[in-house]
Amino acid sequence: MAEELSITATGKEEKYKQLLPQIKSLLQGESDSIANMANVCAALKYGMNFLWVGFYLVKENELVLGPFQGPIACTRISKGKGVCGKAWETSETVIVEDVELFPGHIACSSLSKSEIVIPIIINNKVVAVLDVDSDELSSFDQIDRYFLQEIINLIYL
Ligand code: SME
Repeated sequence: MAEELSITATGKEEKYKQLLPQIKSLLQGESDSIANMANVCAALKYGMNFLWVGFYLVKENELVLGPFQGPIACTRISKGKGVCGKAWETSETVIVEDVELFPGHIACSSLSKSEIVIPIIINNKVVAVLDVDSDELSSFDQIDRYFLQEIINLIYL
């Protein structure tokens, strides 16, 4: 395993394309999902320069904060609440271009401007969500959705 990520591209899609194989080798041979989620957070935060990257895990009837990188975050989110709770409730990816315009958005950091949340579904049940925040408006689109889903698929093989 390389000790450092190597991202030379400047465009988003190219960055993801460089990052994906590096994350793949980072996770290879490790079966612990918490360890893999933790390294994925670091790789995405530092490889893509996001404000906040983290997982919330479904525990009983709440989302509970899991591995993350970035500013401190709220620890528990109810079903249907905020962007994360919405992605859990609907089992759909939610892309928010301007968090101030999303009803019920939970502001963990005042620096967060846009957000994507992808549900992680195993046997038709959401078991966790991946939440990525940006300090710029409209940062996320179908490119992020595609590559973040590919990265999730590497964690839960
Ligand atoms: N903004 C999220 C809460 C989690 S933080 O962004 C880390 C939401 O509305 O669900």
